[in-house]
Amino acid sequence: MTDLLHTPEGVRDIYNGEYEQKLSIESSIHSVFKSAGYRDIQTPTFEYFNLFSSDIGTTPSKDLYRFTDRDGETVVLRSDFTPSIARCAAKYFMEDKDTLRFTYKGNTFSQTTELQGKLRETTQMGVDMIGDGSVEADVEVIRLAYDAIKSVSDKKFVISISHIDYFKGLSEELGLNNEAELRLRDLVTNKNFVAARQYLLNDLPKDCRLSADQIEQIMRIENLAGDVSVLNEAEQIVNNSTSKAAIDRLRRIHTSLDKLGLADCIAYDLSMLNKYSYYTGVIFKAYMSGVGECIAKGGRYDNLLREFGKDAPAIGFVIVIDDLLQALRTPADDKTDNYLTFALTKGRLADKTLDLLEKIGFSCEEVKDKDTRKLIFVNDELKLRFFLAKGPDVPTYVESGVADIGVVGKDTIIEENRRVYEVLDLGFGKCRMCVCGPKEAGELLHHHEKIRVCTKYPTIAKDYFYNKKHQTVELIKLNGSVELGPIVGLSDVIVDIVETGSTLRENGLDILEEICPLSARMIVNQVSMQLKSDRIRSIITKIKELI
Ligand code: PRP
Repeated sequence: MTDLLHTPEGVRDIYNGEYEQKLSIESSIHSVFKSAGYRDIQTPTFEYFNLFSSDIGTTPSKDLYRFTDRDGETVVLRSDFTPSIARCAAKYFMEDKDTLRFTYKGNTFSQTTELQGKLRETTQMGVDMIGDGSVEADVEVIRLAYDAIKSVSDKKFVISISHIDYFKGLSEELGLNNEAELRLRDLVTNKNFVAARQYLLNDLPKDCRLSADQIEQIMRIENLAGDVSVLNEAEQIVNNSTSKAAIDRLRRIHTSLDKLGLADCIAYDLSMLNKYSYYTGVIFKAYMSGVGECIAKGGRYDNLLREFGKDAPAIGFVIVIDDLLQALRTPADDKTDNYLTFALTKGRLADKTLDLLEKIGFSCEEVKDKDTRKLIFVNDELKLRFFLAKGPDVPTYVESGVADIGVVGKDTIIEENRRVYEVLDLGFGKCRMCVCGPKEAGELLHHHEKIRVCTKYPTIAKDYFYNKKHQTVELIKLNGSVELGPIVGLSDVIVDIVETGSTLRENGLDILEEICPLSARMIVNQVSMQLKSDRIRSIITKIKELI
């Protein structure tokens, strides 16, 4: 019967002290929301699928838990409260002209990828204010996020604020069509500035080509993060009323937050956009050390209620209680909070990265000792830590936040698909991901018949054959010396990295098709990017100047 004792992947029991702490946090936050005049509301745990459809702009449908009930209706476990609150407000308060203030608590469900250490069921508590589109409403809600977090913690946190219209106005000014705007928004949201630049240079739709100056103009969004002074810089980049109005709104919000004494924990980041497309104005996220993701997130969604027949502006946020709990259970620690930690890919990439870091004044003599078996190295003077990890583990360390910065090959980034910011192409470790095999196997790639493929990179291989070539393949995962596959008859071809080509040559194999170019990339944890913003951005700038 011991197989009955496990919970499914992504859900867990919480008990004893941890549960008591969770309940106590919930109680403190609830008191803050109640005393600010927000009324309790409860919506169902599952709703019709349509409420979470792409028209509403919430969680992608592949991440939803959906099922068919006895009546044949497709229903989903809620992944996000906002659509339910909007539906509810429209249903029961359609004619109400007063400002509505709701607070709620409940569990949300989202199918995260396996083995990423992410919960699939999380408790969220939030507020929504409906019917007030003013700056004062923005300030009230941001302040409430601050008060709620402050009520349970003395740990340092940052609330990072942005405005959806800044990027929107800039995209319009440069003549990007809807498709290009959405693609670029996705890349900028993930701070994948390497791919954003490549997209603008090479892959824009034909009707919206940009000049080199225009590409530089839009890419300056990368540096629009920091204290309130970035708003001045942001204003100089644009020449359109939508973006300027967004900046003006943020300035007015800042003036009020400053008066309230909150300015110290407020930052601005105009490249922070949001994956939920229902947001229309100011958006914000709160970050605290000890957890790899934001602990609170929210923003203005002035058009969403219209989907339900009620025309009313709205703004709200949620605190992800489980993430906040994890942050609070990770005590403040000098090494974590004040040191910059690098996870480097063992071997040549680490050597090249250390050379590069040395050139910008970041060194650690200990790491250079080839005989050492130590895995972690510290430079207390410069407050730096380095650890050497296997390539596929580097994005894992960075996503979780135990490393602030990682250096790893693009192949590993694609394959591991972790939530990290890919901020720089370091230009070394250049190679190509290719389909290789005996020359005669090339013929097999021109038809849609099934072939066998050995690879260390099943995600990349699957994406290439299924989505780009529409060819059915039988994938066989190997862990190294993949070239053996076709030689010993295990497969027809391989998908693997080619650097100099000598492994292929010496084994009588050829490149049959090229999938993509690869090189070493710098990746950054999303919380570190906010909490250690100045140090990390200065490293990025210095390395850029060097390469
Ligand atoms: C990589 C890759 C190829 C080889 C290509 O293997 O998987 O086998 O390098 O390099 P080349 O074009 O310069 O010959 P790696 O040495 O990392 O070891 P592995 O085969 O065990 O993965």
